[in-house]
Formats: sequence, structure tokens, C-alpha cells
Amino acid sequence: MSIVRCAGLRVRLGAREVLGEVSLDLSARTIALVGDNGSGKSTLARVIAGLLRRTGGDLRVMGCDPDCDPAALRARVALVLSNPDAQIMMPTVAEDVALSLRSARLPRAERDARVDAALARFGLDGLGDRPAHDLSGGQKQLLALCGAFVRGPRLVIADEPTALLDGRNARRVADHLLADTGHALVLVTHDLALARRCESAVLMADGRVAASGASSAVVDAYESALTC
Ligand SMILES: Nc1ncnc2c1ncn2[C@@H]1O[C@H](COP(=O)(O)OP(=O)(O)O)[C@@H](O)[C@H]1O
Ligand SMILES: [Mg+2]
Repeated sequence: MSIVRCAGLRVRLGAREVLGEVSLDLSARTIALVGDNGSGKSTLARVIAGLLRRTGGDLRVMGCDPDCDPAALRARVALVLSNPDAQIMMPTVAEDVALSLRSARLPRAERDARVDAALARFGLDGLGDRPAHDLSGGQKQLLALCGAFVRGPRLVIADEPTALLDGRNARRVADHLLADTGHALVLVTHDLALARRCESAVLMADGRVAASGASSAVVDAYESALTC
């Protein structure tokens, strides 16, 4: 099944065409989005996540049209960004994870059990009552992953999730994102070694797709263009 399928996808922001005629059919479980600053990666990630409406063209994300059925999309998709501070919404660690489950309307005991299991999965067990803003940068990004994964998303979209982390925490966050726990991944990254760990990759340039295919071939093409 396609994770993301689009044809002639266009996004105009103000007077500017930020994405022009993007056509893709992505079915690998893990997909890297690479390309220079300003090439349109975040815009594409935001359209796929349903945060930004397209100006034209067709788009299906896990079989669902984000414009026609935003609720179905929200149930399937979770988003992780670079800055963990900007993703913390609640005072304590456990409350912040529980917020992601609000729309599921679970009985309290079940909700608490799912929060505890998610905290344990991401190595944050025992920290549930701590103020979320007191965590280290690495722990805050693991908290963001907790909030994303606790709902059991079918697709996780991560926009430069390791950009602000040290090497150890970047590796930890990447390993969680890439682990096969039944979700697909669209990963925007400038870390080309990390992009190579994805099965497939898309190279964006000036709001268009410059290359798409196996990550090794796409990243090779990007790296050789960088040295020209
Ligand atoms: N709200 C906006 N209005 C006009 N142009 C924008 C807006 N947001 C982003 N852009 C432009 O769109 C282009 C692509 O941005 P973006 O998707 O953030 O690129 P990337 O994530 O690859 O760095 C950039 O040139 C950026 O300046
Ligand atoms: Mg970006």
C-alpha cells in the first residue's frame, strides 16, 4: 500500500509557489526527505501531516485525502519537530503524554497505563511527575516521541527530529523512529548517514522532486551534486 501518493501537488504561500507539481508514489516503510534549505521539505511534510492545505493536485496519505477527511488523517498520523521545547504543552511529563490521548476518551486507568507504558518504552519511566520543561534536551525529544507514539500512529512524520540533539541522543531518537513497530516514517533530515538508514529517499530541489528511489542512490546523487 502507498504511504504517500501525490500527483501534480502544488502549494502556493502568498505570491510564491513553494511546491510545484510534486508527483510521488512512496510505499517503503521508511522514507527520507533530503535537500537544501528552502527546497520545500518542511512544506511537503506539513501538507502530508494535514497542517497545510495544498493549492492543487491530488494527495493521498495512507489512503486518505487530508483535505476531505482531516479527522481520519489525524487518527493515523503523528508529527515530531526539531525543537522539543515547542512541543511541550502540559506542566508534567505524564500530563504531556496524556494530552495526546485526550481525543481517544479512554477510561482513566487505561489512559494512565498507556502513558506509563509509553514512558517506559522511551526510557522516561519514573519521570512522569517531573516538570516537563526541567528535562534535558534529549529527554524532551524522547517525550515528544512518547506523545507521538502513544496514540499508535500508522505514519510518523518527523521534521529534522535530531537537529538539536547531541550524537548520543540523536542516535537514540533515530533508533526509535526507524524501529519497525508497525508504523511508517517520513523523515526530513540533513543527516545523510541517517537518511541512508531509511529504505527510500526523496531529494527536493526548488520545490520539486529532483530524485526519488532507494536511499543509497538518492543520497549518492545528492552528495555528488554537493561537491560540484
Ligand atoms: N509562509 C510562507 N510564505 C512564503 N514563503 C514561504 C513560507 N513558508 C516557507 N516559505 C518558503 O518556501 C520555501 C520552502 O520552505 P521549506 O518547506 O521550509 O523548506 P525546507 O524545509 O526544505 O528548508 C522557502 O524558500 C521558504 O522561504
Ligand atoms: Mg525545513
